[in-house]
Amino acid sequence: MSNLNPVRLIATKRDGKALALDDLRAFIDAYTGGAVPDYQMSAFLMAAYLNGLSDAEAAALTDAMLQSGTHIDLSSVSGIKVGKHSTGGVGDKVSPILVPLVASCGVPVAKLSGRGLGHTGGTLDKLESIPGFRTSLSVDEYRRQIDDIGCVIAGQTGDVAPADKKLYALRDVTATVDSIPLIAASIMSKKLAEGNDALVLDVKCGRGAFMKTEADARALAETMAAIGAEHDVPVTAVMTNMDVPLGRAVGNWPEIVEVIECLRGEHDDTPLMRIVRALAGEMVALGEKAESAEEGEERVQQVLDSGAALDRFFQFVEAQGGDRGLIDTPSARDGSEPVAVVRAPDDAQGYVADLDALAIGHAAVDLGAGRRAKEDDVDPVAGLSDLKKPGDPVAPGDVLARLHTRTPSAVEDVRAAIRDAYSFSDEPPEPVAPVRARYDTSGWSDV
Ligand code: URA
Repeated sequence: MSNLNPVRLIATKRDGKALALDDLRAFIDAYTGGAVPDYQMSAFLMAAYLNGLSDAEAAALTDAMLQSGTHIDLSSVSGIKVGKHSTGGVGDKVSPILVPLVASCGVPVAKLSGRGLGHTGGTLDKLESIPGFRTSLSVDEYRRQIDDIGCVIAGQTGDVAPADKKLYALRDVTATVDSIPLIAASIMSKKLAEGNDALVLDVKCGRGAFMKTEADARALAETMAAIGAEHDVPVTAVMTNMDVPLGRAVGNWPEIVEVIECLRGEHDDTPLMRIVRALAGEMVALGEKAESAEEGEERVQQVLDSGAALDRFFQFVEAQGGDRGLIDTPSARDGSEPVAVVRAPDDAQGYVADLDALAIGHAAVDLGAGRRAKEDDVDPVAGLSDLKKPGDPVAPGDVLARLHTRTPSAVEDVRAAIRDAYSFSDEPPEPVAPVRARYDTSGWSDV
C-alpha cells in the first residue's frame, strides 16, 4: 500500500478537506485487495456520506472501481455505441423496449442490467421470465451479439467493478447508500465498463424512485454527467416522473407482455411511450443518426410504425435463447393468467385521483415478482396487470388490477394494500408531465 495512510485519508474527509486523488485511488485498490479492513472503509464512507465528494473525487472513486475489474472493449464494433441507465422505478420496462428500438435506428446499444432492488423491479428478472432467455453471457458472446444485431442486455459478471460490489455491500449495512456522489460513482463505474461511447440516463424522480425530490434528482444527474465528462463519455440525462407506476403492468411476465404491446404500437399515446421516445430520441442523436433529439424521435416513430423495432426485439429475444413463439402469443405462457382481481370500493365514483407507486412496488414483491432476501428466487409470472391509472374513469366494482402469482396465499393482503394505494375524486386530476427536464453539457432545459 506504499505511503498511503488510511487514518490520515479518513481524517481529511472527516474534516471536509480535499482528498489527494491518487491516495483515494490507492485506498480503494487496497480495500479491494483486502489490505484495508471494513472498519476503516466504513469510517471513510460515513465521512464521505456526511461531507460529500467533489466532482473530481467522485470521478477518481469511479475510476478506481471501474479499474478494479473488466472494462469491456467494443472498439471493434462499428458505429457510436450508446448506453442507457435508469435509476429504477416501479413498472419500469423501458429498457427491453428501448434497446432494440434504438438498435433498429442504426445505433448499437450494449447494456449490463441489474436485478430487482427493494420495491423496484429488475430488467434481468423481467427478461428471464421469457422461457429460455439467457442473461448470463460471456464477454465474447456480448461482443458478438452487439456486432451481429446491434443490441444486447446481459447481467453483470463478477468481473465488472468488483470494488463496487464490495463497497455496495458495506454501504448497505453502514447506512451510507443514500449519498448522491456514492450512488453516482457506483452506477457510473458499472456503466463505463459496458463499452459504450455515450450514455443516456433516465433519472427517475418521485415517491416510487430512489430520488424523491427534484433537487436530489438534478444533483444525481449532474454528478453522473460530470463523471462521464471526466471519462470522455458524453452523458445526457432525462428526468422522468416516478410518482405513479409506469404503464399498466408491474412485475415480470406481465411487464414483458406490455413491452410486446408497446412495440406493436398498442400504447403509443401513454406516459410510458413518451418516456421511451424521449430517451430513444436522445440516444439516436448521441449516436449521430439524427441532428437533434427531436429528429431522433421522428426516426424512432418511423421504426415503430414500420414494425422494424418489433422485428429487432424478436431477433434480440431469439439471440439470447428466448422462446419466440411465446412472444408472438404471450397468452400461451403457462400460469400467466390472473388468479384474482382487485375491484374498486363502493365510494369509488368519478376518477382515479392518485396511485402510489411505492405501494404498488411492494405489492408486486409480495406476489413474488421481487426478492425480500438476496438469495430468494423470483416468480417469473408474478405481478399486476390492467392497472387503472390516475385520470381513468371509475365506478364501484370496476377492476382496479389483475393479480398474477404462484403464491395464492399472498393475494388477500395484496388486495387490501392495492385498494389503499388508490384514491378517487369527482374531477379528473391535473395530468403530470412524464418527462420533466433534460440535462447535458449546456445545462438543464425543459422538454
Ligand atoms: N444502484 C447502484 O448501482 N448503486 C447505488 O449505489 C445505488 C443504486
